[in-house]
Amino acid sequence: MPSFKKIAIAALGVVLTTGAGALAQDAIGKDEFQQRCAACHGMDGRGDGVVAGLFALPPKNLVGLSKANDGVFPRERVYNSIAGTHKIAGHGSSEMPLWGRYFTDEVRRKGIADPTPMQKAESDIVRGRILSLVYYIESIQAE
Ligand code: HEC
Repeated sequence: MPSFKKIAIAALGVVLTTGAGALAQDAIGKDEFQQRCAACHGMDGRGDGVVAGLFALPPKNLVGLSKANDGVFPRERVYNSIAGTHKIAGHGSSEMPLWGRYFTDEVRRKGIADPTPMQKAESDIVRGRILSLVYYIESIQAE
């Protein structure tokens, strides 16, 4: 029978490792966001980036997405807005998105059923990049 102390230490380990994982995920997303999105959407996502005033269509305030959606974060729509499968006028065409191939998952976009190992690896990397942004945007939702 394992002692209570051992169980407590194991539980603490799980909390620490999953907590650190979530933190790392958020930190990556935040970094990506500040590099690739903040010029328009603002450093804190409120839609007031330095070039925001240059566009006829104002960049969305991204901290209010849950509020505008009955309190539920629209995870899939946000994912698709970045992946280019949900058309966003301000992001360029899905053929030539603002961020080039960086967030473009060719396998998903072209519906390639049997990707090569290389295509599969690229697709996984892109999916990870997009997900880290989605998690970050979810983490900055305001009431
Ligand atoms: C050149 C300016 C620009 C950049 C850079 C930009 N966006 Fe946008 N974004 C816009 C505009 C403009 C809209 C609003 C379009 C509309 O209202 O139809 C928008 C809308 C969105 C939406 C849609 C919100 C909704 O209602 O579903 C999301 C999500 C989003 N952007 C995420 C991002 C992310 C993440 C990045 C960085 C990878 C980014 N944007 C970079 C201009 C930009």
